[in-house]
Amino acid sequence: MNGTGQSSGKLLNRLALDGYAERLCAVRVASDAFGWTRFCGSLSLVLVVMLFLSGAFLMFYYSPTPGAAYDSVDFAQFSVPFGDIVRGVHYYAWNLLLVVLGLHLAGTFLTAAYQAPRQFVWISGVLIMLVVPLFIITGDLLPWDQKGYWTTQVRNSIISSIPVVGDLTLRLLQGGPRTGIVTLTRFYVLHCLFLPSLLVALIVIHLHFLAHRGLSEPLREGKTDRGCIPLVPDLINRWLLLFAAVAVVLGLVSAYWPAPLDSPADPTDSAYVPKPEWWVLALNQLVSIFKGPFMFIGTAVIPGGLAALLIALPFLDRSPSRHPAKRKTVMVLGVIMLILLSGLSLLGYIEHFMTPRP
Ligand code: HEM
Repeated sequence: MNGTGQSSGKLLNRLALDGYAERLCAVRVASDAFGWTRFCGSLSLVLVVMLFLSGAFLMFYYSPTPGAAYDSVDFAQFSVPFGDIVRGVHYYAWNLLLVVLGLHLAGTFLTAAYQAPRQFVWISGVLIMLVVPLFIITGDLLPWDQKGYWTTQVRNSIISSIPVVGDLTLRLLQGGPRTGIVTLTRFYVLHCLFLPSLLVALIVIHLHFLAHRGLSEPLREGKTDRGCIPLVPDLINRWLLLFAAVAVVLGLVSAYWPAPLDSPADPTDSAYVPKPEWWVLALNQLVSIFKGPFMFIGTAVIPGGLAALLIALPFLDRSPSRHPAKRKTVMVLGVIMLILLSGLSLLGYIEHFMTPRP
């Protein structure tokens, strides 16, 4: 052991952490853990860490009251050195995370990586997928700009249409008859405390089951002997490199295309019609298909049924082979789902972005 190794060994010993360090250094993972086919899991982790870091910096300046929120965000973005980069990284990271999570889900769906013994890796993943939009819903209101304020009003009417629990949920979220200071405080606490704790817990569960149940075998027959690499330093170094690369790319994108900030919220301006974000276009279309008393079919029954189906998938698909060609029913259902989602999104895009408003 060299000098640095000896002194860090002594430090760990004094802190009574040497046992943990030894165990961590002994961990070995499949050599394809960072391969191209498994890129999206690692990238999701990078983006989540980036969201937490940039969000913590934004909190230094943020003031959660309707009178001050907009100015505090404006100050953080345009007056604080590198504030535009930090807010931009936060904004682009969640957009990218949605895409990367979708690809991660599609990849593990395609290879049936959800099958036993990884059912709980998949189920925790689906729960993560349900929690991430809640970050966006609560985060959109925080700048207290026109877009965030009026988008929240649209979402409130969707929430209140959910049978049985809709009204109560809305009352709990709003804390009063209107979106005001209590709503902003609640969204802030949910966004910065409750949801991050929930997400961290779910990611720990995801990685815990992954570590215990192992990564799925490659699909190609005869490729089962893939060897192992040490977690520390090999996998961690690659992960840090990916983190640095993504930080540079998102930083550059933020410098050239700043994160959007609309004009300050005006609760009396009910003529303002917000355009839905790209990720919610399909759900918006679904909601507009079922009108009046049937609205709950689009807001609760179909999305809830889809989530339940995804959670139950490892117990429904027990095909002996994981190869997509040998799981025709599941694949056909997956493709139909994808076509429906893309079709609804396209219709939503045409309606909201290509049709002139009266
Ligand atoms: C922030 C969210 C997430 C993080 C940080 C994360 C992280 C990871 C990592 C690092 C891996 C190992 C490498 C790989 O196979 O890609 C993995 C595997 C896996 N993930 Fe995720 N994941 C997340 C969300 C999801 C979601 C939404 C799903 C699906 C619903 C999912 C399902 C799986 C499955 C089934 C595996 C095992 C893959 C295999 O063994 O081949 N994960 N995840």
